[in-house]
Amino acid sequence: MNSDLLFDRSYINGAWTNHGLGSFEVINPANGKVLATVLDGGKEIVEQAIVSANAAFKPWSSSTAKHRASILENWNSLILKSTDDLATIMTLECGKPLKESKGEVAYGASFIKWFAEEGKRVYGDVIPPTAEDKRIVVVKEPIGVVAAITPWNFPLAMITRKVAPALAAGCTVVIRPSEETPLTALALAHLAELAGFPKGVINVVVGKDASSMGKVLSKSKEVNKISFTGSTRVGKILMEQSSSTLKKLSLELGGNAPFIVFEDANIDKAVEGALVSKFRNSGQTCVCVNRFLIHKNVYKEFTQKFIAAVSEFKIGNGLEDGVNVGPMINNKAIRKTTEFVEDAKEKGGEILLGGKAIDNCFFEPTIIGNASKDMNFAQEEIFGPVAPIFKFSSDEEAIQMANDTIYGLAAYFYSENINRCWKTAEALAYGMVGINEGLISTEVAPFGGFKYSGQGREGSKYGIEDYVQTKYMCFGNVN
Ligand code: SIN
Repeated sequence: MNSDLLFDRSYINGAWTNHGLGSFEVINPANGKVLATVLDGGKEIVEQAIVSANAAFKPWSSSTAKHRASILENWNSLILKSTDDLATIMTLECGKPLKESKGEVAYGASFIKWFAEEGKRVYGDVIPPTAEDKRIVVVKEPIGVVAAITPWNFPLAMITRKVAPALAAGCTVVIRPSEETPLTALALAHLAELAGFPKGVINVVVGKDASSMGKVLSKSKEVNKISFTGSTRVGKILMEQSSSTLKKLSLELGGNAPFIVFEDANIDKAVEGALVSKFRNSGQTCVCVNRFLIHKNVYKEFTQKFIAAVSEFKIGNGLEDGVNVGPMINNKAIRKTTEFVEDAKEKGGEILLGGKAIDNCFFEPTIIGNASKDMNFAQEEIFGPVAPIFKFSSDEEAIQMANDTIYGLAAYFYSENINRCWKTAEALAYGMVGINEGLISTEVAPFGGFKYSGQGREGSKYGIEDYVQTKYMCFGNVN
């Protein structure tokens, strides 16, 4: 691996800062060993980063969209050229199999490319006036300093999905990556510097105290917007803390995705979709299936084929060849996943495959039959490789079960009947619906949820709207 991409401290105003309150360790989840020791910037470093981003805002926002796009394009190319190194860093710090990490580099870079182009199309309007001597013009302006608070499960793509539209629109950014995965974020900052971003436009603050760093960002008058990906619990805290400054928020929060297989589904395709949408990143994504809802007439066939396919998975260190299920991020995640399985067992769930942790780092891909609505995963997000299977008898029951959650991020279903497809897609209370498809994430489509899954959209033409504000100009006395 190219050690030029490894950094151990925050990046503020175009420099690697020595300021720190001590240090914290980054752990390789595949073996529990210390991967790196990183300087903990604490709250003070967040304050410095905000000052730096604020100072850089005027010149950056006044530059042309074309100029900003050219620097974003450079960043995109440098990231793609560093795919192998970035993917290795990601697998080391978050555990996902190398193939998935390489996929994430391409996925993450795609947002930079997309928004470099989209930034040139932030159009306003000219509105027919109400009087002959008036002219009415609407322009879109960058919102200001943006804080991006990002999770460990996509250490690269969740940064670029927020930061690329912000930068393209003319905002400057303070990135606070998860304390589990700071190394990818710091490598991205280095590549951003090489790409030509001016000092202060991109700042990365690393530290272990997520809550105090988040508090500084949400209470600051100089931060105009927060974009956060993480749990619904933390999203609510950020919203509450941000209320005193009436900050705009984009929140990409938890999910409880249903995956419905109707009796007319192509079962082989449904199993294929189930594998990718359940076990991507060892089940640790917010769009991973949480509940399989299977029609009683195809329950047996689906379950048997699903078990056969999942039995083929290789569990292990993501750097090893052929591994498709890596470690869980930490002990807490293992404990929580174990609790879901134990709770289901106590309530009559049948363990059809897997069911336990291995070496306190991994969790066996697990399939649970006879799932019922009193089991904890019926309402809570699993975030692990556990697949509970529920049975249903009618379309109405399937929709009712699917929507019976506070969440509304992603839902999936399989059917070969076009009418059923339309009706079901319309009836699902979710921001994203996969129809005969288990992998729906792409830079060209709006990612985001309904209900407790958050607000705002990322990616697509909609993704840049979260980073601009609308100004109406009324020209009077035009003679
Ligand atoms: C997430 O889990 O937060 C993002 C998943 C995705 O982009 O597909």
